[in-house]
Amino acid sequence: VTDDLARAEALIRTIPDYPEPGVQFRDITPLLADAAALSTVIDALIDPFAGEFDVVAGIEARGFLLAGAVATRADVGLVPIRKAGKLPRPAASVAYSLEYGSATIEVHDDIAPGTRVLLVDDVLATGGTLRAAHELMPRIGGSVVGTAVLLELLALGGRALVPDVRTVFTV
Ligand code: PRP
Ligand code: HPA
Repeated sequence: VTDDLARAEALIRTIPDYPEPGVQFRDITPLLADAAALSTVIDALIDPFAGEFDVVAGIEARGFLLAGAVATRADVGLVPIRKAGKLPRPAASVAYSLEYGSATIEVHDDIAPGTRVLLVDDVLATGGTLRAAHELMPRIGGSVVGTAVLLELLALGGRALVPDVRTVFTV
């Protein structure tokens, strides 16, 4: 498993100066394109929380790429957390700050009260997105049991904003 994870990690590509000069963008698409690596990381995302959640909440857009696979492998359902204006009947919204500007995420209330939720996203950067997702879940009756993230950008310190976060890879 350690070898499999190391092989998967090596498939994360660094793109200099994207989306702007000075930023080293970590691109997970080569990892996603590799069947064995994708399967390995889906298991690694679930592992710390196995048996502890009833539904997966994935965050638009890149979080969806992982959340659907996590949900099917864990045999639970999926709740999409979307950017404002995309859902036909949002039940709750939370606004949050980004490095530049702000954003709002929304969700439907299609889970039963007390449902145990695992949040899933691809990258933990400043933590603003996942903290907002944490705030969103109780508004629809969900209880967040943890957060599973593929890649943590340690220099940005986002972990401090996100309770019970487990990250597969750090850089
Ligand atoms: C990225 C990433 C995380 C978030 C992390 O999404 O997929 O959701 O930023 O940043 P934070 O920890 O500083 O909040 P983005 O908002 O770029 O949207 P996308 O998935 O649609 O590309
Ligand atoms: N890679 C992917 N997503 C991100 C990054 C990155 O380097 N920084 C903030 N979101």
